[in-house]
Amino acid sequence: MLEGEQGEITARMMRLLTRLGDVYGAERMIPVASVQVAGVSYKSIGDPGLEFLQDIARDARVKVLTYLNPAGMDLEQWRELGIDESFAEKQLAIIDAFKQMGIVISATCTPYLAGNLPRYRQHIAWSESSAVSFANSVIGARTNREGGPSALAAAITGFTPYYGLHLDENRVPHVVIDVQTELATSTDFAAMGNFVGREVKNKIPYFRGLPDAGTDELKALGAAMAASGAVALYHAEGLTPEAEQMETEGLEKIAFGAAELKETYERLNTGDDPDIIMFGCPHASLNEIIKIARLTEKGKAKKPFWICTSRAVKEIAERMGLDEKIAEAGGKLVADTCMVVSPTENMFTTTAVNSGKAAHYLPGFCKQRVVFKSMEELLS
Ligand code: F3S
Repeated sequence: MLEGEQGEITARMMRLLTRLGDVYGAERMIPVASVQVAGVSYKSIGDPGLEFLQDIARDARVKVLTYLNPAGMDLEQWRELGIDESFAEKQLAIIDAFKQMGIVISATCTPYLAGNLPRYRQHIAWSESSAVSFANSVIGARTNREGGPSALAAAITGFTPYYGLHLDENRVPHVVIDVQTELATSTDFAAMGNFVGREVKNKIPYFRGLPDAGTDELKALGAAMAASGAVALYHAEGLTPEAEQMETEGLEKIAFGAAELKETYERLNTGDDPDIIMFGCPHASLNEIIKIARLTEKGKAKKPFWICTSRAVKEIAERMGLDEKIAEAGGKLVADTCMVVSPTENMFTTTAVNSGKAAHYLPGFCKQRVVFKSMEELLS
């Protein structure tokens, strides 16, 4: 592959992975079962990113199932959501380049809810931090957090260097989080994630005392921790698949109680009277959309709201007639994008979210004041 028998771009991509492997002391390359590529929004990668992708697309095709992170706009409804023509033109050119490479235009940060579900212990190369956290922690698959170029290189070659979280010895916990308060909503999980990420940075936490939690709560927790820290893997006693095998004797302990929960809500709330409520960070599951539709059955929400999700989930929701119920309540189902990677700053100044990750990024990335509350409170 390095000699260019599979094309000049594939050789270039293999050289990139080899260099990365050398830096991290990888002894070999391993095949990956799937890839998720980030760096899709024109807002994030700009013209240099677009030119780079067009250059790659001229010659290279992906070798494994490769999904795409959210783009800067809904790829179908962008006009109606107020995206300007020049942004859309560039964004669509980026999507065309990915399409030419054979990448699935999934445009989601929850590939595991939209047809790309790895199995336990499978090696993958994913990019988006919440998806990486979910795959490593909740599924027990194995991935480092890839950058845009290294994920693309893994997709084109089918390989990744064998280091970091691919190895058993690097998946052991460093710190125990002793949960001493009730967590009533997935937003409470997100608030705890924000707190823990700030405390542990890039260490691996082991949660003790979590209540029974489902996919939605665990994706909210992982996303928030990956945003305020760089947590790519966590274990939760009784909930995540590798927790049982982990030794926690003698580890540092951090308590998370009612005071920490309250302090985190206060810190993340920087505004009031939102222009819009945005759900779906990470992209909403069908279950969350059903829940929102039920919560709004009583009548119109006080503020307009969007639910960001994948195209795959949106289409099922539409088939169930949930889009109509949501529209009656003043909401919109928005696919392919989210409040952080779309040009939110051109449309709103105060955004309400139930997501710890969005609450962390909206002030800096999108110049928003933030209202951070649970779905139930925001729709009451
Ligand atoms: Fe996904 Fe956007 Fe949040 S990419 S995790 S919805 S910031």
